[in-house]
Amino acid sequence: MTGADIWRIRSDTLDSRFVRYGVPLASVASALLVTQLIVRDVYPETSALFIAAVMVSAFYGGSGPGLVSTILATLALNYYLTSPAYSLKISVASLVHSSLFLFPALLISLLGGIQRRLTVDLQAENKARASEKEVRRELLHRLVNAQEEERRRISRELHDQMGQYLAALMWGLQSLKDSTHVQPPARKDIERLGELAQQLDYEVDHLVLELRPTVLDDVGLHSALVQHFERWSEHSKVVVSYRIAGIEHQRLPASIETPIYRVVQEALTNVLKHARTKRVSLTLERRKDHVLTIIEDNGCGFDSDALERASNVHTRLGLLGMRERVEMAGGTLNVESTPGKGTSVFVRIPLMSNGNGGVPHE
Ligand SMILES: Nc1ncnc2c1ncn2[C@@H]1O[C@H](COP(=O)(O)OP(=O)(O)OP(=O)(O)O)[C@@H](O)[C@H]1O
Ligand SMILES: [Mg+2]
Repeated sequence: MTGADIWRIRSDTLDSRFVRYGVPLASVASALLVTQLIVRDVYPETSALFIAAVMVSAFYGGSGPGLVSTILATLALNYYLTSPAYSLKISVASLVHSSLFLFPALLISLLGGIQRRLTVDLQAENKARASEKEVRRELLHRLVNAQEEERRRISRELHDQMGQYLAALMWGLQSLKDSTHVQPPARKDIERLGELAQQLDYEVDHLVLELRPTVLDDVGLHSALVQHFERWSEHSKVVVSYRIAGIEHQRLPASIETPIYRVVQEALTNVLKHARTKRVSLTLERRKDHVLTIIEDNGCGFDSDALERASNVHTRLGLLGMRERVEMAGGTLNVESTPGKGTSVFVRIPLMSNGNGGVPHE
């Protein structure tokens, strides 16, 4: 049973009218019993016990139960504990005693009511917040899945359509270049066009790989990351220094490899977009029961509290998506950043919650 379940059961119990109105009866009966057994006939001193009973009822159940216990306690005090016993005859003395009891008891009931209303409001607010969080999580979850699906589709289209056209274009240019009818000046232009087509082909390959790292399926996280770093550094001119340990001989399950790869991709994109630095480092370590990944840069950093308060927080999906992916794999993601000092992203994903914890490399 989770903490949330316990909390729900507890608040349901608290809300039950039966229990709320049972408490005044029980507490006044207990006060009466104690008075009977121990301190009989010393009213009004014993009224403190009945005040305690009203307190318990009011702070547990609110002003209604507080008032019920006040009425019950007044009856018990006047009918049973004030002489003459078993009589509701009202005298000046009993009126004074009653008011000495009634005034604080009513005040306590009132305060109990206010306290309960505040508690109920707070509970309702907490529930609303929790369900809002749940909806947001669900949306992010769907977004991450839809993103992955869409990437796969675009990657396939790019590879199958663009790849074919480009191959045909390069083949045509090559044939033209080899043709004996083409004059040398035109041949130079064809060569340039050929180089452009090759560059385009390289860019498309790069995009296809970025969108759907098939290399991840084929050769595993270690090689996929190394290849990604090489391509990314060439593009961005940012140096990646890395240390990868413990996954050379035993592959991690796909449910761990994919989120780590995607998180590293997004973290590097953020470095390029925001960090204003030329160096970034990555540590990936397979430990006994989890995999730890740290991506660190010494760039400009940012104020995470200010980021939380920023109005456009919902349009920034990178960090949210990273966290979602990691949490879907049962892990945690923490970002530490100090303005002017750089940013570190820590990802910890447990091995055991993901099945056997890894498969050997073929
Ligand atoms: N390595 C970093 N260095 C400096 N600032 C960073 C770094 N990573 C993130 N940030 C800051 O955190 C913000 C949120 O990052 P996040 O990836 O969620 O959004 P984004 O990159 O702005 O947009 P998106 O990823 O959705 O295209 C960024 O706008 C930037 O201000
Ligand atoms: Mg981003």
